[in-house]
Amino acid sequence: MSVKKEKSAILDQQDKKLKEQLSKIKHKIMVMSGKGGVGKSTVAVNIAVGLSLQDFMVGLLDVDLHGPSIPKMLGARDLKLTRRPDGRLGAIKYSPNLKFLSIEPLLPAEDSAIIWRGPIKISAIRQFIGDIDWGELDYLVIDAPPGTGDEPLTVAKTIPDAYALIVTTPQEVSLIDVKKSIKFCQKVKMRILGLIENMSGFICPHCGKPLDLFKRGGGQKLAEEMGIRFLGKIPVDPRVVDTGDRGKPIVGAYPESLTAQAFEEVIRNIISATEEMHKEVLEEKYMRIAVPIATPQKFEANPEKFDLFALYDIENNKLLVKDVAKKPENQALVDFLQEQVATHILLHASNTSVADELTSQGIRVFITEEIEANPDNLIHTLLSQRG
Ligand SMILES: Nc1ncnc2c1ncn2[C@@H]1O[C@H](COP(=O)(O)OP(=O)(O)OP(=O)(O)O)[C@@H](O)[C@H]1O
Ligand SMILES: [Mg+2]
Repeated sequence: MSVKKEKSAILDQQDKKLKEQLSKIKHKIMVMSGKGGVGKSTVAVNIAVGLSLQDFMVGLLDVDLHGPSIPKMLGARDLKLTRRPDGRLGAIKYSPNLKFLSIEPLLPAEDSAIIWRGPIKISAIRQFIGDIDWGELDYLVIDAPPGTGDEPLTVAKTIPDAYALIVTTPQEVSLIDVKKSIKFCQKVKMRILGLIENMSGFICPHCGKPLDLFKRGGGQKLAEEMGIRFLGKIPVDPRVVDTGDRGKPIVGAYPESLTAQAFEEVIRNIISATEEMHKEVLEEKYMRIAVPIATPQKFEANPEKFDLFALYDIENNKLLVKDVAKKPENQALVDFLQEQVATHILLHASNTSVADELTSQGIRVFITEEIEANPDNLIHTLLSQRG
């Protein structure tokens, strides 16, 4: 076998493992922000621990390769990866319901400075998901570094059905940051779960009551303006820092505190938002319809020529965004559609074998009798028939 073929065989194998693993995880949530230090890792850890305390099976994946903070925040720097009976490595067990993984336990010594180049980051993150056994999970929470670099991009590509959870603080500048994050999500076609406002108001270290020292509350308005869900706000609380440093997340350490209760509310909202988004797909309230095209203005009815696709995001029978994507020549149609997170495809009535194959892979099929129609018109007709 040539080196090139061997390499692609390894990648194919890894792709298969990745898909298998991802199919066992019900909801995937990537915590992101435009700006550093807004509390992503804090939010990720408390959400993961909070969900696990409610008997969900949870995974927490730290894809921050330069500044991993999850092991410290969990107080689990000494824990090691587990070896499964079949020889595979499993994520690190933190509690019966919570597993996590970070680059930190895989590095030789604490504080080892590693310079990661883009492609290595990508393959490390893919291995975190594909090569490590996570088992069946209700939630995988992913803690990303700030911004829209290689790490969130790799997560978006590797886990096409992940939702983004955007964290912001109540400062003016964060508006621009949230907009950047939303733009990123639109570009990589990641659905947005919602927005959390962290460090919103202040909990007095002496009496434990909320004080309005700082500006707060802009998050809700911002979410409304941007048309995304507001998942709640978390106050500034010195115990967050303290519990983070001691490795005992506040939701577990002080469950009665107002801050832990604020996290509880955020978690309740996350549970209902994920269920809702899942249901929207099942009930076809949310659809991403792929339409094979010959040119942006012309539908393609011949499956031999399927290489360009228009993608329409539909919510409640209204068109949100349209995009065009090219399928790589050597990629199978079903793999391409899954990578694009297409829920549906519009095919010509004669494409019966393609339709059968895609249906068996969970992609729903709409049929049209038209041959050379404009794809936008086809979608409008489809929506008006359904509406
Ligand atoms: N609600 C809060 N109250 C008080 N301190 C907080 C709160 N949220 C986060 N912090 C503190 O702010 C600091 C930054 O938080 P954290 O590391 O979670 O942010 P981050 O967004 O993950 O940062 P980075 O962008 O570097 O990954 C930490 O010391 C953390 O303990
Ligand atoms: Mg962080």
